[in-house]
Amino acid sequence: MGGGSAARVADWRWCHPEPLQSGNVPDTSNPLANDSNENQSPGGLLETPDLGEVLVSAEDLEKRILELGQQITADYQGRPPLLIGVLKGAFVFMADLSRAIDLPVEFDFMAVSSYGNSTKSSGIVRIVKDLDVELAGRDVILVEDIVDSGLTLNYLRKNLLSRKPASLAVVTLLAREGRQAPETELEYIGFTVPPVFVVGYGLDVGERFRNLREIRAFEGT
Ligand code: IMP
Ligand code: MG
Repeated sequence: MGGGSAARVADWRWCHPEPLQSGNVPDTSNPLANDSNENQSPGGLLETPDLGEVLVSAEDLEKRILELGQQITADYQGRPPLLIGVLKGAFVFMADLSRAIDLPVEFDFMAVSSYGNSTKSSGIVRIVKDLDVELAGRDVILVEDIVDSGLTLNYLRKNLLSRKPASLAVVTLLAREGRQAPETELEYIGFTVPPVFVVGYGLDVGERFRNLREIRAFEGT
């Protein structure tokens, strides 16, 4: 078996007539990452009049998530955390954040649905998919996409604490400026965003725009 992967790498390079170096690397830059609509195909992701300005660019997301990862790595030395992602919105953030953490983390996911309409949380939460693992004695970090009123999070925090983890912290990519209920505790925050509906980087409206590389305002209803 020894050298198998090295051989595959060698084969791969051999298949390319010219080594890939800057200058002849194909341009894979994603046209969705910038504000220009020049390179778009008809029916592309950005082609909707409701999509507003970029609030957090792909570059700023990458930089901040690396910082959060380094901070978590420092804070959890000797006690690698269990990351719990809240589906679906947190999946993109969790994928990048986890790879910025230099510890042997483990993963689980929960899916919740909030009673209320699509843009306003009621605080009454139904667990649609529960965890696969036990939390007793674990150092748990709950990974959220956005905390608005904090009602969803406050419910989840109580629910998870009742399972007796050794510790529980929350990391959220976004927190809405000035909206959280007073008891909402957020140990790690990526960015604060103004009181507009946002999409991208995991966040959706009607299941769309989760695959935008940046966070944008959404001006539709
Ligand atoms: P909260 O209970 O009011 O804090 O609402 C939190 C949940 O509502 C988040 O986890 C999101 O799923 C959803 N949400 C709140 N604001 C937005 C937004 O601007 N875009 C997309 N989803 C949002
Ligand atoms: Mg959510």
